[in-house]
Amino acid sequence: MRAKLFRALGLVALTLVLVGCSGGDKPQNTFDPAGPTAQSQKDLLMPVMWVAAVVFVIVEGGIVLIAIKYRHRKGRDLLPPQTHGNTRLEIGWTILPAVVLAFVMVPTVSLIWDLSRHPDPGAMNVTVEGHQWWWAFRYTDPDMAVGYGDQGPITTADVMVIPVGREIYLSLESHGGGAQDANGVTDFEVIHSFWVPRLAGKQDVVPGRTNHIILQADEPGTYWGQCAEFCGLQHGRMRFRVVALDQPAWDAWVAHQKQPAAPPTDPLAKAGMDLFLHGVSSGGQCIACHAVGGTDAAAAVAPNLTHFADPNHQCFAGCTWDTSDEAALRAWLANPDAVRLGSKMPNYHLTPEEIDQLVAYLLSLK
Ligand code: CUA
Repeated sequence: MRAKLFRALGLVALTLVLVGCSGGDKPQNTFDPAGPTAQSQKDLLMPVMWVAAVVFVIVEGGIVLIAIKYRHRKGRDLLPPQTHGNTRLEIGWTILPAVVLAFVMVPTVSLIWDLSRHPDPGAMNVTVEGHQWWWAFRYTDPDMAVGYGDQGPITTADVMVIPVGREIYLSLESHGGGAQDANGVTDFEVIHSFWVPRLAGKQDVVPGRTNHIILQADEPGTYWGQCAEFCGLQHGRMRFRVVALDQPAWDAWVAHQKQPAAPPTDPLAKAGMDLFLHGVSSGGQCIACHAVGGTDAAAAVAPNLTHFADPNHQCFAGCTWDTSDEAALRAWLANPDAVRLGSKMPNYHLTPEEIDQLVAYLLSLK
Protein backbone atom coordinates (compact mmCIF):
# COMPACT_ATOMS: atom_id res chain seq x y z
CA MET A 1 0.00 0.00 0.00
CA ARG A 2 2.67 2.44 1.05
CA ALA A 3 4.87 1.46 -1.90
CA LYS A 4 1.98 2.14 -4.24
CA LEU A 5 1.47 5.57 -2.72
CA PHE A 6 5.14 6.43 -3.05
CA ARG A 7 5.15 5.27 -6.66
CA ALA A 8 2.10 7.45 -7.44
CA LEU A 9 3.66 10.48 -5.75
CA GLY A 10 6.90 9.87 -7.62
CA LEU A 11 5.04 9.75 -10.92
CA VAL A 12 3.26 13.03 -10.16
CA ALA A 13 6.58 14.69 -9.25
CA LEU A 14 8.22 13.35 -12.43
CA THR A 15 5.33 14.65 -14.56
CA LEU A 16 5.63 18.11 -12.99
CA VAL A 17 9.38 18.16 -13.60
CA LEU A 18 8.95 17.10 -17.23
CA VAL A 19 6.18 19.64 -17.84
CA GLY A 20 8.39 22.33 -16.31
CA CYS A 21 11.13 21.49 -18.80
CA SER A 22 8.89 21.14 -21.84
CA GLY A 23 9.93 23.02 -24.94
CA GLY A 24 7.83 25.49 -26.85
CA ASP A 25 7.03 29.12 -26.32
CA LYS A 26 7.61 30.43 -22.81
CA PRO A 27 7.06 34.16 -23.12
CA GLN A 28 7.34 34.82 -19.37
CA ASN A 29 10.51 32.91 -18.53
CA THR A 30 12.71 34.66 -15.95
CA PHE A 31 15.53 32.25 -16.81
CA ASP A 32 15.63 33.50 -20.39
CA PRO A 33 16.61 37.18 -19.94
CA ALA A 34 16.47 39.48 -22.96
CA GLY A 35 17.98 42.65 -21.51
CA PRO A 36 20.63 43.84 -19.04
CA THR A 37 18.27 44.34 -16.06
CA ALA A 38 16.85 40.83 -16.27
CA GLN A 39 20.34 39.44 -17.00
CA SER A 40 21.87 41.03 -13.89
CA GLN A 41 19.00 39.71 -11.79
CA LYS A 42 19.47 36.21 -13.16
CA ASP A 43 23.22 36.45 -12.56
CA LEU A 44 22.45 37.11 -8.90
CA LEU A 45 19.65 34.57 -8.63
CA MET A 46 21.64 31.58 -9.87
CA PRO A 47 24.55 31.59 -7.36
CA VAL A 48 22.17 32.44 -4.48
CA MET A 49 19.94 29.56 -5.54
CA TRP A 50 22.89 27.14 -5.57
CA VAL A 51 24.01 28.30 -2.13
CA ALA A 52 20.44 27.85 -0.89
CA ALA A 53 20.27 24.40 -2.52
CA VAL A 54 23.43 23.23 -0.74
CA VAL A 55 22.16 24.56 2.61
CA PHE A 56 18.80 22.91 1.99
CA VAL A 57 20.32 19.52 1.24
CA ILE A 58 22.62 19.64 4.31
CA VAL A 59 19.89 20.77 6.73
CA GLU A 60 17.02 18.66 5.41
CA GLY A 61 19.30 15.68 4.86
CA GLY A 62 20.47 15.93 8.49
CA ILE A 63 16.89 16.09 9.73
CA VAL A 64 15.85 13.05 7.72
CA LEU A 65 18.93 11.03 8.71
CA ILE A 66 18.51 11.78 12.40
CA ALA A 67 14.77 11.08 12.27
CA ILE A 68 15.45 7.66 10.75
CA LYS A 69 18.43 6.78 12.91
CA TYR A 70 16.84 7.68 16.23
CA ARG A 71 13.23 6.73 15.48
CA HIS A 72 11.22 4.86 18.05
CA ARG A 73 11.62 1.10 17.86
CA LYS A 74 10.05 -1.75 19.78
CA GLY A 75 12.12 -2.76 22.76
CA ARG A 76 14.03 0.50 22.81
CA ASP A 77 11.98 2.65 25.11
CA LEU A 78 14.87 4.62 26.58
CA LEU A 79 15.87 7.97 25.15
CA PRO A 80 19.22 7.96 23.33
CA PRO A 81 22.07 9.75 25.17
CA GLN A 82 21.23 13.46 25.52
CA THR A 83 23.86 16.19 24.99
CA HIS A 84 23.58 19.66 26.48
CA GLY A 85 25.85 22.42 25.27
CA ASN A 86 28.79 22.05 22.93
CA THR A 87 30.67 25.34 22.69
CA ARG A 88 32.64 24.43 19.60
CA LEU A 89 29.55 23.31 17.67
CA GLU A 90 27.53 26.34 18.76
CA ILE A 91 30.21 28.78 17.66
CA GLY A 92 30.45 26.87 14.40
CA TRP A 93 26.78 27.00 13.53
CA THR A 94 26.61 30.67 14.43
CA ILE A 95 29.60 31.70 12.33
CA LEU A 96 28.98 29.50 9.30
CA PRO A 97 25.49 30.89 8.47
CA ALA A 98 26.81 34.42 9.02
CA VAL A 99 29.55 33.76 6.47
CA VAL A 100 27.02 32.30 4.02
CA LEU A 101 24.73 35.31 4.45
CA ALA A 102 27.61 37.73 3.99
CA PHE A 103 28.53 35.90 0.78
CA VAL A 104 24.94 36.37 -0.46
CA MET A 105 24.58 39.93 0.84
CA VAL A 106 27.49 41.58 -0.96
CA PRO A 107 26.28 40.96 -4.55
CA THR A 108 22.62 41.45 -3.52
CA VAL A 109 23.13 44.89 -1.99
CA SER A 110 25.40 46.03 -4.80
CA LEU A 111 22.78 45.00 -7.40
CA ILE A 112 20.03 46.80 -5.44
CA TRP A 113 22.15 49.96 -5.59
CA ASP A 114 22.89 49.45 -9.24
CA LEU A 115 19.23 48.95 -10.17
CA SER A 116 18.15 52.07 -8.29
CA ARG A 117 20.68 54.27 -10.12
CA HIS A 118 19.69 57.17 -12.32
CA PRO A 119 19.25 56.12 -15.94
CA ASP A 120 21.54 56.97 -18.86
CA PRO A 121 21.20 60.56 -20.09
CA GLY A 122 19.90 59.09 -23.35
CA ALA A 123 17.22 57.00 -21.66
CA MET A 124 13.61 57.32 -22.76
CA ASN A 125 11.04 58.20 -20.10
CA VAL A 126 7.74 56.37 -20.01
CA THR A 127 5.10 56.81 -17.33
CA VAL A 128 3.27 53.56 -16.67
CA GLU A 129 -0.22 53.77 -15.19
CA GLY A 130 -1.73 50.73 -13.52
CA HIS A 131 -5.52 50.77 -13.82
CA GLN A 132 -8.14 48.19 -12.92
CA TRP A 133 -7.36 46.16 -15.08
CA TRP A 134 -5.12 47.40 -17.82
CA TRP A 135 -1.95 49.43 -18.26
CA ALA A 136 -1.48 52.82 -19.89
CA PHE A 137 1.90 53.98 -21.23
CA ARG A 138 2.60 57.69 -21.63
CA TYR A 139 5.74 58.76 -23.50
CA THR A 140 6.58 61.92 -21.59
CA ASP A 141 9.78 63.07 -23.34
CA PRO A 142 9.38 66.37 -25.26
CA ASP A 143 10.26 64.70 -28.57
CA MET A 144 7.44 62.20 -28.02
CA ALA A 145 4.59 64.73 -28.00
CA VAL A 146 1.86 64.22 -30.58
CA GLY A 147 1.48 66.70 -33.42
CA TYR A 148 -2.17 67.61 -32.84
CA GLY A 149 -4.58 68.86 -30.19
CA ASP A 150 -2.93 69.69 -26.87
CA GLN A 151 0.42 68.21 -28.02
CA GLY A 152 0.22 65.71 -25.16
CA PRO A 153 2.41 62.62 -24.88
CA ILE A 154 2.00 59.63 -27.16
CA THR A 155 -0.21 57.30 -25.16
CA THR A 156 -0.89 53.60 -25.63
CA ALA A 157 -2.80 50.95 -23.71
CA ASP A 158 -1.85 47.34 -22.97
CA VAL A 159 1.26 47.42 -25.18
CA MET A 160 4.42 49.45 -24.61
CA VAL A 161 6.46 49.87 -27.79
CA ILE A 162 10.17 50.58 -27.25
CA PRO A 163 13.33 50.84 -29.36
CA VAL A 164 15.94 48.07 -28.93
CA GLY A 165 19.23 48.81 -27.23
CA ARG A 166 18.07 51.92 -25.39
CA GLU A 167 17.43 52.32 -21.68
CA ILE A 168 13.80 52.92 -20.80
CA TYR A 169 13.19 54.69 -17.50
CA LEU A 170 9.75 53.76 -16.22
CA SER A 171 7.81 55.80 -13.68
CA LEU A 172 5.14 53.53 -12.23
CA GLU A 173 1.89 55.03 -10.93
CA SER A 174 -1.42 53.63 -9.79
CA HIS A 175 -4.44 55.33 -11.29
CA GLY A 176 -8.07 55.15 -10.31
CA GLY A 177 -10.66 56.55 -12.63
CA GLY A 178 -13.64 56.29 -10.32
CA ALA A 179 -15.01 59.00 -8.05
CA GLN A 180 -12.76 60.78 -5.55
CA ASP A 181 -13.50 60.40 -1.87
CA ALA A 182 -13.11 63.13 0.77
CA ASN A 183 -9.39 62.34 1.14
CA GLY A 184 -8.70 62.76 -2.57
CA VAL A 185 -8.26 59.01 -3.09
CA THR A 186 -9.73 57.87 -6.36
CA ASP A 187 -11.89 54.78 -6.48
CA PHE A 188 -10.23 51.74 -8.12
CA GLU A 189 -6.78 53.01 -7.10
CA VAL A 190 -5.05 49.89 -5.80
CA ILE A 191 -1.64 48.25 -5.63
CA HIS A 192 -0.45 46.53 -8.81
CA SER A 193 2.94 45.08 -9.69
CA PHE A 194 4.64 45.61 -13.03
CA TRP A 195 6.46 42.53 -14.28
CA VAL A 196 8.02 41.66 -17.63
CA PRO A 197 9.97 38.53 -16.63
CA ARG A 198 12.34 38.54 -19.62
CA LEU A 199 13.22 42.23 -19.20
CA ALA A 200 13.09 43.03 -15.48
CA GLY A 201 11.96 41.79 -12.09
CA LYS A 202 8.76 42.93 -10.41
CA GLN A 203 8.17 46.43 -9.10
CA ASP A 204 5.10 47.38 -7.07
CA VAL A 205 2.81 50.11 -8.36
CA VAL A 206 1.53 51.88 -5.26
CA PRO A 207 -1.18 54.55 -4.96
CA GLY A 208 0.23 57.92 -4.00
CA ARG A 209 3.85 57.24 -4.91
CA THR A 210 6.02 56.75 -7.98
CA ASN A 211 8.35 53.75 -8.30
CA HIS A 212 10.89 53.26 -11.03
CA ILE A 213 12.39 50.54 -13.20
CA ILE A 214 15.16 50.80 -15.78
CA LEU A 215 14.79 48.22 -18.49
CA GLN A 216 16.13 47.59 -21.94
CA ALA A 217 15.50 45.01 -24.66
CA ASP A 218 18.56 43.79 -26.56
CA GLU A 219 16.67 42.19 -29.45
CA PRO A 220 13.49 43.09 -31.34
CA GLY A 221 10.55 41.01 -30.21
CA THR A 222 7.47 40.77 -28.03
CA TYR A 223 7.96 40.40 -24.30
CA TRP A 224 4.93 39.42 -22.24
CA GLY A 225 4.14 41.11 -18.98
CA GLN A 226 1.76 40.47 -16.15
CA CYS A 227 0.41 42.31 -13.13
CA ALA A 228 1.97 40.42 -10.23
CA GLU A 229 0.03 41.82 -7.27
CA PHE A 230 -3.56 40.82 -6.59
CA CYS A 231 -5.61 43.88 -7.52
CA GLY A 232 -9.18 42.65 -7.86
CA LEU A 233 -11.33 40.38 -9.98
CA GLN A 234 -9.42 40.64 -13.26
CA HIS A 235 -5.91 40.65 -11.75
CA GLY A 236 -5.08 37.40 -13.54
CA ARG A 237 -5.92 39.02 -16.87
CA MET A 238 -4.16 42.32 -16.24
CA ARG A 239 -1.54 41.50 -18.82
CA PHE A 240 0.49 43.60 -21.21
CA ARG A 241 3.23 43.29 -23.75
CA VAL A 242 6.45 45.13 -24.46
CA VAL A 243 7.17 45.27 -28.19
CA ALA A 244 10.80 46.13 -29.00
CA LEU A 245 11.41 47.46 -32.51
CA ASP A 246 14.66 48.01 -34.42
CA GLN A 247 15.52 51.62 -35.24
CA PRO A 248 13.75 52.01 -38.63
CA ALA A 249 10.56 50.33 -37.34
CA TRP A 250 10.73 52.41 -34.16
CA ASP A 251 11.09 55.68 -36.10
CA ALA A 252 8.13 54.72 -38.28
CA TRP A 253 6.03 53.85 -35.23
CA VAL A 254 6.81 57.17 -33.51
CA ALA A 255 6.04 59.17 -36.65
CA HIS A 256 2.73 57.34 -37.01
CA GLN A 257 1.80 57.78 -33.33
CA LYS A 258 2.28 61.53 -33.64
CA GLN A 259 -0.48 61.57 -36.25
CA PRO A 260 -4.13 61.75 -35.19
CA ALA A 261 -6.42 58.87 -36.05
CA ALA A 262 -7.21 58.85 -39.76
CA PRO A 263 -10.95 59.54 -40.28
CA PRO A 264 -12.60 56.41 -41.69
CA THR A 265 -13.79 56.31 -45.31
CA ASP A 266 -15.81 53.09 -45.17
CA PRO A 267 -19.54 53.89 -44.50
CA LEU A 268 -19.85 51.25 -41.75
CA ALA A 269 -16.80 52.63 -39.93
CA LYS A 270 -18.07 56.19 -40.44
CA ALA A 271 -21.32 55.23 -38.75
CA GLY A 272 -19.27 53.68 -35.94
CA MET A 273 -17.31 56.90 -35.49
CA ASP A 274 -20.58 58.80 -35.26
CA LEU A 275 -21.80 56.45 -32.49
CA PHE A 276 -18.45 56.71 -30.75
CA LEU A 277 -18.45 60.50 -30.70
CA HIS A 278 -22.15 61.23 -30.21
CA GLY A 279 -23.50 58.33 -28.19
CA VAL A 280 -25.24 55.05 -28.88
CA SER A 281 -29.00 54.36 -28.95
CA SER A 282 -29.13 53.51 -25.24
CA GLY A 283 -27.61 56.92 -24.48
CA GLY A 284 -24.16 55.53 -23.61
CA GLN A 285 -21.15 57.72 -24.38
CA CYS A 286 -17.86 56.08 -25.40
CA ILE A 287 -16.11 59.45 -25.07
CA ALA A 288 -16.96 59.66 -21.38
CA CYS A 289 -13.90 57.44 -20.80
CA HIS A 290 -11.93 56.96 -24.04
CA ALA A 291 -9.75 59.20 -26.19
CA VAL A 292 -9.20 59.09 -29.95
CA GLY A 293 -6.57 61.58 -31.09
CA GLY A 294 -7.81 64.24 -33.49
CA THR A 295 -11.46 63.92 -32.39
CA ASP A 296 -13.44 65.36 -29.48
CA ALA A 297 -12.83 62.16 -27.53
CA ALA A 298 -10.15 63.08 -24.98
CA ALA A 299 -10.93 61.27 -21.72
CA ALA A 300 -8.11 59.33 -20.03
CA VAL A 301 -10.10 57.04 -17.73
CA ALA A 302 -10.06 54.11 -20.15
CA PRO A 303 -7.61 53.02 -22.88
CA ASN A 304 -6.59 55.60 -25.48
CA LEU A 305 -7.87 54.15 -28.76
CA THR A 306 -6.16 56.50 -31.25
CA HIS A 307 -4.20 53.69 -32.91
CA PHE A 308 -6.18 50.77 -31.49
CA ALA A 309 -5.59 48.52 -34.51
CA ASP A 310 -1.92 49.39 -35.14
CA PRO A 311 -0.36 45.96 -35.82
CA ASN A 312 2.32 46.64 -33.16
CA HIS A 313 -0.36 46.97 -30.49
CA GLN A 314 -1.42 43.35 -30.76
CA CYS A 315 -3.98 43.07 -27.97
CA PHE A 316 -6.70 44.83 -25.94
CA ALA A 317 -8.59 44.75 -22.63
CA GLY A 318 -5.61 43.87 -20.46
CA CYS A 319 -4.23 41.79 -23.35
CA THR A 320 -7.03 39.35 -22.73
CA TRP A 321 -7.60 39.09 -26.46
CA ASP A 322 -5.62 39.75 -29.62
CA THR A 323 -6.81 42.74 -31.62
CA SER A 324 -7.11 40.44 -34.63
CA ASP A 325 -9.78 38.42 -32.77
CA GLU A 326 -12.89 40.16 -34.08
CA ALA A 327 -15.27 37.71 -32.39
CA ALA A 328 -13.73 38.58 -29.01
CA LEU A 329 -14.05 42.29 -29.75
CA ARG A 330 -17.74 41.80 -30.54
CA ALA A 331 -18.38 39.82 -27.38
CA TRP A 332 -16.54 42.46 -25.36
CA LEU A 333 -18.64 45.31 -26.76
CA ALA A 334 -21.86 43.31 -26.44
CA ASN A 335 -21.45 42.67 -22.71
CA PRO A 336 -18.09 43.51 -21.13
CA ASP A 337 -18.97 42.05 -17.73
CA ALA A 338 -19.94 38.69 -19.25
CA VAL A 339 -16.48 38.11 -20.73
CA ARG A 340 -14.46 40.03 -18.16
CA LEU A 341 -16.16 39.85 -14.79
CA GLY A 342 -16.15 43.11 -12.85
CA SER A 343 -15.10 45.14 -15.88
CA LYS A 344 -15.27 48.92 -15.50
CA MET A 345 -16.47 49.18 -19.10
CA PRO A 346 -20.25 49.57 -18.93
CA ASN A 347 -22.74 47.50 -20.87
CA TYR A 348 -24.39 49.94 -23.29
CA HIS A 349 -26.81 47.30 -24.62
CA LEU A 350 -25.59 47.84 -28.16
CA THR A 351 -27.70 46.53 -31.01
CA PRO A 352 -26.02 44.04 -33.40
CA GLU A 353 -25.93 46.81 -36.00
CA GLU A 354 -24.19 49.18 -33.59
CA ILE A 355 -21.63 46.50 -32.76
CA ASP A 356 -20.91 46.05 -36.50
CA GLN A 357 -20.38 49.78 -36.86
CA LEU A 358 -18.21 50.21 -33.76
CA VAL A 359 -16.06 47.19 -34.64
CA ALA A 360 -15.52 48.61 -38.15
CA TYR A 361 -14.53 51.96 -36.64
CA LEU A 362 -12.17 50.50 -34.03
CA LEU A 363 -10.45 48.27 -36.61
CA SER A 364 -10.03 51.30 -38.89
CA LEU A 365 -7.90 52.99 -36.20
CA LYS A 366 -4.63 51.65 -37.54
CU1 CUA B 1 -3.17 44.83 -11.34
CU2 CUA B 1 -3.00 42.65 -10.36
